[in-house]
Amino acid sequence: MKASERAAALPAIDPTRVPQHVAIIMDGNGRWARERGLPRMEGHRAGREAVRRTLEACRDLAIGNLTLYAFSTENWRRPNDEVEALMLLLRESVASEAEELVKNGIRLRISGDLDRLPPEIAAQLRDVMGRTRHNERLVLNFALNYGGRAELLQAVRRLARDVANGLLTPEAIDDARFSRYLYTDGLPDPDLLIRTGGEQRISNFLLWQIAYTELYFCEVYWPDFGAVHLHEAVQAYQSRRRRFGGVDDG
Ligand code: IPE
Ligand code: IPE
Ligand code: MG
Repeated sequence: MKASERAAALPAIDPTRVPQHVAIIMDGNGRWARERGLPRMEGHRAGREAVRRTLEACRDLAIGNLTLYAFSTENWRRPNDEVEALMLLLRESVASEAEELVKNGIRLRISGDLDRLPPEIAAQLRDVMGRTRHNERLVLNFALNYGGRAELLQAVRRLARDVANGLLTPEAIDDARFSRYLYTDGLPDPDLLIRTGGEQRISNFLLWQIAYTELYFCEVYWPDFGAVHLHEAVQAYQSRRRRFGGVDDG
């Protein structure tokens, strides 16, 4: 199906006001599987298809940046076999999708501590980041082994080191400078944050970056998420008035 045909069946959105950066907490894989009497892992596998659909829908909407929360620093607390199976799924997915990313003009970035992932996965991710680094159509930013507090702490440590080494004065640390020490350096702050799966919490995601992000929670479990849900979220986003602490001018 062509992009124009797909769009015709979806909730209408204003193409001149799409969010520049959408961030998604992909939640509900386990519950999706449980409702079907399947092992949790089947939910994660089905979630991979939702990633594909969402990426395609973002491309069709010309959304320039998509951040997907795939594995948090707290997810290591899960049973070993789930963590191991997730890492395997990640490895398989990166291997099978790398060419598609290259071909479709998608740049892969990772937000999170790569050094604490299994070394072969870290190497594979670095390779794909290198191969896609000149792509400009869409930035796919995967939050992997990501925690908002861990991100802030590594930033503060590096800043403190730079100050101690005389590279920076404490007074020179402003919003813009601080942002450059975050994993998301160079990305605009998210305009829209979507959480699937019905929970209404942030779970340690992008704590600094979402200061003025519009939040959108939906009940649908991540494996069922697709273009229609993305369009509904963008529609809701477009119906809101962002004031950034100021007053409406119209
Ligand atoms: C989100 O789905 C995927 C990851 C955190 C890896 P969950 O696995 O958290 O699914 P629920 O919340 O248990 O349903
Ligand atoms: C948030 O989901 C993390 C990811 C989607 C990767 P969780 O399922 O881990 O969050 P909690 O435990 O419900 O807060
Ligand atoms: Mg969950």
